[in-house]
Parts: sequence; C-alpha cells; structure tokens
Amino acid sequence: MSTARPHRVAVIPGDGIGREVTREAVRVLAAIGRRHELDLEFEEGLAGGAAIDAVGHPIPDRTLDLCRRADAILVGACGGPKWDRGPRESRPEQALFTLRKTFGLYANLRPAAVSSALLAASPLRREVVDGADILIVRELTGGLYFGAQTRTGCGADEAAVDTLPYSAPEVRRVVRKACELARGRPRRKVTSVDKANVLETSRLWRSVATEVAKDFPDVTFEHMLVDNCALQLVYNPRQFDVIVTENMFGDILSDEAAGVMGSLGLMPSASLGNQRPGLFEPVHGTAPDIAGRGIANPLAAILTVALLLRHGLDHEPAASAIEAAVSRALVDGCRTADLAGSGPALGTAAMTDAVLARLD
Ligand code: NAD
Ligand code: IPM
Ligand code: MN
Repeated sequence: MSTARPHRVAVIPGDGIGREVTREAVRVLAAIGRRHELDLEFEEGLAGGAAIDAVGHPIPDRTLDLCRRADAILVGACGGPKWDRGPRESRPEQALFTLRKTFGLYANLRPAAVSSALLAASPLRREVVDGADILIVRELTGGLYFGAQTRTGCGADEAAVDTLPYSAPEVRRVVRKACELARGRPRRKVTSVDKANVLETSRLWRSVATEVAKDFPDVTFEHMLVDNCALQLVYNPRQFDVIVTENMFGDILSDEAAGVMGSLGLMPSASLGNQRPGLFEPVHGTAPDIAGRGIANPLAAILTVALLLRHGLDHEPAASAIEAAVSRALVDGCRTADLAGSGPALGTAAMTDAVLARLD
C-alpha cells in the first residue's frame, strides 16, 4: 500500500455559474481519481461574493490557509452585479488578485484549440479556424491590475489614475515560461504581444523578450502589436502557436480567442508560479445572464481539471483521459446551449454525465 500523503485540492466554487460548473468539475476529478488510484482530498473554501455575504470579506484568512495547505486550488468564478458597488478592496474580484499574488502565480496558461467536432460552432468560417491551436500565456501578477490606483476631485472635476508598472524580472520569467512551453509543442513558435509603439512598459517588455528569445534558438520568436493581434486572431488564427503578453492584453485576447473557438464555456486555465499550489479556473466569469438555470457549459471547468492534473499534480495520464472523454462527447454531438445553435441542448449536469460516460 502507498504511504504517500493524499493530494489536497482546495475547492473555491465562488459565485453564479462558478458554483454550478465547479460542482461538475469536482465530480469528474473524483471519478478520474478513482480510476487512476489517485488519493485526492477535497476541502471547500469561501471566496468572492459568497464570502462577502458570509463573513464580510472577499477572501477570508480561513480560505487562504486552506489554499496554503493545498497541492492545487480549483476555482469557479467570482463576482456579480450584487457586489458591484463599494471600494476595490471589498469587491469579489479582489479574492482572485489576492490568490494570484499570494501564491506568485505569474504565468496564466489559456489554451484555445478549435476542436474539429466544433467547427460549426465557431463564428468564423471553417477554412479560417480549422486546425487553430493557440496557447495564450498571460502575465498574471503585474501591470494595471496591481499598479497604484487613485481617484481625486469630485463631481464634474473628478479624475482617476491607473498605473501600469512592469519590471524586467517580471517580463523575463513569463516570456521564459512561454518559450519553454513552446518547446513542448510541435510548431515551437512564440508571438510576444505588446504596444511598444505607445507604452514604455511595452518597450521594456519587447527588449527583455528579445533577450530571452536568444536562449531559445529552436523557438521561432516574433513581436506583434496588440491591436494587430486582435485583428489577426479573427483574420488568421492558425498563424499563432504560443502568444505571450501582459496582464490586461492577455485578459482581453483570451476572451477573443475563446470566441473564435466557439464559446467562452470551453476555455480552461492554469495559473502557475515556481511552486505548488497552482490555481486552476475556467477563463469565463460568473455569467449572471444564465446563472441559476443549470444550462452553463461545464467543459471549461472540466478541462480545467485536466490542467490541474497535468500542471498541478503532474499526472499526465489522468489529464489526457479527461481531454479524450470531452473530445468524444463533442464528437458524439453532445452540446450545451452555448454550442447547440438551434439543435437540442444538454444542461450542465447532463453534459458532465456525457463526459463521465466516456471516461476510460
Ligand atoms: P462572463 O465570462 O461571466 O460571461 C460572458 C458571456 O459568456 C455571458 O453571455 C455568459 O453567459 C457567457 N458564458 C460565460 N461562461 C459560460 C459558460 N460556461 N457556458 C455558457 N455561457 C457562458 O463575463 P461577464 O458577464 O462580463 O462577467 C460576469 C461577472 O463575472 C463579473 O462580476 C466579472 O467580474 C466576473 N468574472 C469573474 C471571472 C473569474 O472569477 N475568473 C472571470 C471573468 C469575469
Ligand atoms: C479573468 C477575469 C478577471 C481578470 C476579473 C474577474 C478580475 O476576467 O480571470 O479573466 O480580469 O483577471
Ligand atoms: Mn477575463
């Protein structure tokens, strides 16, 4: 019998459809754990609006302690109109920033691959998207999200300032991570995205990225301005392999890439630092427009569990098994409402059942 200690997974469902899809993701993780004899221990924590309602703070110490003890953190999504007023420290999204900063999760991997079964779901023409397979590496602990913010004056004269700081080490480590990830992919190409024609931080980004690229002679490296990248993603997404970019650009471009794939409900993410725990969450938010109806697509959350197994627990066979089961469900025509068009749609739980039924 193994004497290894169990893998501890901190589960933070959050708000809205975050709760609905996390429930399903945990079902899949538990099922794959049993099949692969992984000793998994789940412990749930409060964060976001749910934590504000329960204890008046978006990320209670109890939740942070739970995460500190964990090998991996699984998050649903946080936020919603109910908590949209108030200062930034007491908004639900603050929970995400605290988790990202506390655990040094500077590299956020957001894969966007167009599945052949879903070609019809993409808003782009089949011949434009067929074969697109992009990994966006978003810097996650710097830039506008963490720079000083001020609000001055009042009434008609009110003003606000956001600041966008980046240091060379912050750029270096994430570009290095992107190049390493590109080495594990067939095309070995990195596109570094910035706004170097306008922003000083982007000029720093570009010069540091150019230096890092010299250590990866086997990786094709290019720079692209962010406005052009937004265009190229819809114009010719197949040209991209790995895209690396700063925090805000990565946030925006990844939603766009998810749209190119057919739905935001398909895109998982892994937020990694130099040690455990990594944090794993779907790219989508709490979707207040569909929350509570049991129709959210659980696949982004289920594919997030695959990333948790691969990058968080180093268990590639279990990760691949989940991805294969999702792929089979899609090939067999299983669709949630976001992907079904005018065809029949499965609810959140039924879609998960369809994946579970196809798990090897
Ligand atoms: P959203 O990502 O929640 O939704 C955007 C659109 O995509 C909506 O039409 C929604 O119905 C659809 N959608 C998203 N996920 C889906 C899924 N799994 N299945 C089917 N359709 C899906 O973005 P929003 O509406 O701008 O934000 C809502 C709230 O979520 C805000 O409070 C925001 O701050 C928060 N948010 C949180 C996270 C996170 O916790 N990681 C991420 C993004 C947004
Ligand atoms: C994401 C989300 C968050 C972000 C929000 C909710 C703060 O949009 O993870 O993509 O902008 O980082
Ligand atoms: Mn986002």
